[in-house]
Amino acid sequence: MASTTNFTADIVPQAPEDPLFGLMRAYRADESTDKVDLGIGAYRDDNAKPWILPVVHKADEILRNDPDLNHEYAPIAGIASFTSKAAELILGADNPALKEKRVASIQSVSGTGALHLGALFLSKYFNGNRTVYLSNPTWANHGQIFKNVGIPNAQYPYFSKETKGLDFAAMKGALAAAPERSIIVLHVCAHNPTGVDPTPEQWKELAVIIREKNHFPFFDCAYQGFASGDLARDAWAVRYFAEQGFELALAQSFAKNFGLYGERAGCFHFVTSPASDASDAISRIGSQLTLLQRAEISNPPIYGARIASIVLNDPALFAEWEDNLRTMSGRIISMRKALRAKLEELGTPGTWNHITDQIGMFSFTGLSQAQALQIREESHVYMTGNGRISMAGLNTRNIDYVAKAIDKVVRDAAAKL
Ligand code: LMR
Repeated sequence: MASTTNFTADIVPQAPEDPLFGLMRAYRADESTDKVDLGIGAYRDDNAKPWILPVVHKADEILRNDPDLNHEYAPIAGIASFTSKAAELILGADNPALKEKRVASIQSVSGTGALHLGALFLSKYFNGNRTVYLSNPTWANHGQIFKNVGIPNAQYPYFSKETKGLDFAAMKGALAAAPERSIIVLHVCAHNPTGVDPTPEQWKELAVIIREKNHFPFFDCAYQGFASGDLARDAWAVRYFAEQGFELALAQSFAKNFGLYGERAGCFHFVTSPASDASDAISRIGSQLTLLQRAEISNPPIYGARIASIVLNDPALFAEWEDNLRTMSGRIISMRKALRAKLEELGTPGTWNHITDQIGMFSFTGLSQAQALQIREESHVYMTGNGRISMAGLNTRNIDYVAKAIDKVVRDAAAKL
């Protein structure tokens, strides 16, 4: 029979499955009782179960008992009580950019939606070098979000395979060598996938280069409060750039720090530089972002933003949230210590200090793709092919098992050399 579709395979080839969601599917299908999920970056408690933050439970109660609750549309730019507090949370309430009203904040479909909205805006209006520089490696979605709006990708070095820390000299060199006025994506904290962040001193040096080259910084913040447990500390880098008067874009996700993964709560912020035309500029930019949003999603989803807004606007609930953040980050930090100690105890070949030096949801173990596959096949331990593990998947019950499984694949690889 002749083909009747307009969309034949030469026009629409089969796309590969998303590696991360493919890994999640494979994990779910695995019937082994030993299986351990170190794949997707989602918090788990010590029983390997998703954790609904107690403060989110409370906010949910408040929301459900609100006699005025309805399901009307949010404004196109989102719920103002949420976006204004989201801006204060990430930039700091005292940030001159906020005081001088140089920030446009648009509610987004979590961090991905914020990145997309910013990328779309840049694809239409950025007249510098329309290439985005991404860290090597970076979150797998970054590249395709920019490519989808026609912005080609380039890379700057980031991770040193030797030290399993930051390759700062190479990073600086690449940013200095990039064409003037390039778009530079920077992770605010808890870099995904490496868990390696620049120090404040290093951020200051990066700011000098970015200013000299007139680059456009685009910050991505998915882990505020989740890395160190301290909201201000985790936001330091972007607050610093904003205080220094940079014009910048900022994608903010509430998936991890509120445990609102599937609710898609997020915000996109555009910050303009202090100048006589700043308020005119921010009004024009905000208006165009609103127009883009209308054509894309009409107006944002409300449930997650309402939950976050209740917490962000109530001092007592806010304090409780900070406590919940410390619970999550604290458990992850203790798992880092435990994993490193177990591997050192086992005498696993190599050094393991990077496990505790790195920060946030992930550790970049240094395991190769072949080892990641072997550990999955032999021990049912699921990690991404680049050797990234989600620390939240570890708990007091499986830590010995995982350490032994890592030890085995490292020794097997060493024996083959
Ligand atoms: C991850 O990197 O595991 C998370 O950010 C989830 C995702 O959407 O990729």
